[in-house]
Amino acid sequence: MQNPIIIANWKSHKNLGEAKNFLEQFQSLYEKNPYSDKTVVICPPFTALSVCRSFLSQNNLPLYLGAQNVSAYPEGAYTGEVNAKQIKELCEYVIIGHSERRQNLSEKDIDLGKKVEAAKSEGLQVIFCVQNENTPIPAGVDIVAYEPVSAIGTGNAESPEGVKMVLQKIHASRPEPVLLYGGSVNEGEVKNYAHIEEVSGFLVGGASLDADSFFSIISSC
Ligand code: PGA
Repeated sequence: MQNPIIIANWKSHKNLGEAKNFLEQFQSLYEKNPYSDKTVVICPPFTALSVCRSFLSQNNLPLYLGAQNVSAYPEGAYTGEVNAKQIKELCEYVIIGHSERRQNLSEKDIDLGKKVEAAKSEGLQVIFCVQNENTPIPAGVDIVAYEPVSAIGTGNAESPEGVKMVLQKIHASRPEPVLLYGGSVNEGEVKNYAHIEEVSGFLVGGASLDADSFFSIISSC
């Protein structure tokens, strides 16, 4: 895999102390075993973004930050929303369209299109999650993560053949975005996808919460 992108989706996990601990552990792993030519993005909850940004500014760690959501609306009277301009102060990336938000928060394709527009207007890199080859992908998306619902958090990662087939179809209709796979990715699974030319990296949930296991995934890419 050339110049892989490995993204940690912490979901609704980690308080401030836990986020800082993770980065400290990650730093000591990185110092013992530095990597190059890999893009690694951590997506903490909103509450931990600022502490993570400060840590990265103070330490020489090659990590980027991403948000797990963005408001479809600009700055204004939108209680509870975090807009793209605010995210841009702390992050380079944003995840949009995760299936957990589609299911639990009823996010619809039309809302997701607005979120992508808002994120792009601030120059954020959009990581857009699709559940299959038929999920609509809005214009301007930079990275597409194929995450079949059956594979998320279940330990049943999609077969390499299945991933290849879906990514080929996505690529045929949308050649620009970089393509990732996500769903029960762990250190052991990574090598199963290494030979698939369409896979440029991974979106990792559960296995990204522990610095050791996330670092092993990065090292295996
Ligand atoms: P998982 O989650 O790695 O825990 O399956 C992936 C995701 O939801 O992005």
